[in-house]
Amino acid sequence: MKSDIIVGLQYGDEGKGKVVLGLLEQNNYDVCLRFNGGPNAGHTVYHNDQKVILHQIPCGILYNKVSIIGSGCVIDLAKLKFEIDALKALDIDVDSLLKISKNVHTITQKHIEEDISNDPIGSTGSGIRPVNRDKYDRKGIRIIKLKERMTEEDNVLEEYIGKCEIIDTTEYFCNMFNTNKYVLCEGAQGFNLDIDFGHYPYVTSTHCVSGFINSSGIPINTVENVYGICKIYETYVGKMEFEDTTEDSFQKLRELGDEKGSTTGRDRQINWLDVHRLNQAIIINSVNKLIVNKCDIMEQLDDFTLKENEKIMSFGDFEKMKRHIVVYLRNVLDEDDIIFSGNKDRI
Ligand code: IMP
Ligand code: MG
Repeated sequence: MKSDIIVGLQYGDEGKGKVVLGLLEQNNYDVCLRFNGGPNAGHTVYHNDQKVILHQIPCGILYNKVSIIGSGCVIDLAKLKFEIDALKALDIDVDSLLKISKNVHTITQKHIEEDISNDPIGSTGSGIRPVNRDKYDRKGIRIIKLKERMTEEDNVLEEYIGKCEIIDTTEYFCNMFNTNKYVLCEGAQGFNLDIDFGHYPYVTSTHCVSGFINSSGIPINTVENVYGICKIYETYVGKMEFEDTTEDSFQKLRELGDEKGSTTGRDRQINWLDVHRLNQAIIINSVNKLIVNKCDIMEQLDDFTLKENEKIMSFGDFEKMKRHIVVYLRNVLDEDDIIFSGNKDRI
C-alpha cells in the first residue's frame, strides 16, 4: 500500500482541488480519502467543463474512485445528500463509490444554530466547533449510532446517504496494508487554520496537517509524497485582523484573483506571502512537492512583494521574487520540487 497527501499551507483556498484533479489524471489511485474538516470546506473543480463544488466528498469520486470520508471528518447529512444528488445527476455511481467511516461525527441543526448565534471568530457557520466539542466531550453522535437506531420501516439514514456503505476504516486500511493499493488523501483547510498550528482562536476545530491522515486509518509508513499547496499571496476569511485595508494592491489582488469564499461567498482578506511561515508549514507537513498557485494573478499586479515574518520585501520583477522564494526554501526543497503555477494551469 502507498499513499499521497495533499495539504494546504496557508488559510485554505490555496487551489488544492485542481492539484487533486491533476494527480488523479497522472496516477492510478485506487482510493481517495478526506481526512479532516467537513461542510466548512469547499473544493471547486471542473468535471466535463461543469463547475462542481464538493464540500465533504473526495474529488476522486468524479474519476470513479472509491471515495472515503474518514474518521477525522465531521459530516452534515442534509448537505451530504445535496452533494450526493448533484453527483448522481452527473451519472456518478455514488452508492457504490462513496464510503463513510463509522466513526464520523454528525452535525445537528442545534450545532449549526449554536455556531451561528455565538461566533466570535467568523466561522463558516457549519456547526464545526460545536460538533467537535461534543466529540471531545465524548457525547457526540457517530454515524454508526444513527445506523444502529434504524429499522426496516424507519430508515431515515438511507434517505440521506442512499446505499453508501458505512465502514470500519481501521479494518479497511489494515486489510489494504499488504496490497499494492494507492490512496490519495485530500486535505481541507490549511496550516494556519489548524487547531494547534494556526492563529488560535481564529482556527478550525481539527488538524489540517498531513500527520492527521493517521486518525482516519492511513499508516504513516505508506506515505510517498506530500504535496503542499499555497498561493503566491495569502488570503483569509474570518474575524482576525489580517490585511492592511489601505493597501491598494490587496484590493486589486482580490479583484484579479476573484477572492471570494466558495462555501460562504464572503470576501477574502488579502496579505503578502510570508515565506518564513511557508517554510515552517513545509517542514511540519513533510512536504516534498510544493505548488505555488495564482502566479499569473501576481504577474498582472505589477507589485512583486512578499514578507519574511514581519519584514516586507519588494522585487523589481516577478522572476526575482520567484528566485528569492526558491533560495529561501533551498534547505527544505530542491528547485525541481517547486512548481509556480497559473490559476488555470493544470498540474
Ligand atoms: P469553521 O471551520 O467553520 O469553524 O471556521 C473557522 C475558521 O476557518 C474561519 O475563519 C473560516 O473562515 C475558516 N475556514 C474553515 N474552513 C475553511 C475552508 O475550507 N477554506 C477557507 N477557510 C476556511
Ligand atoms: Mg476551499
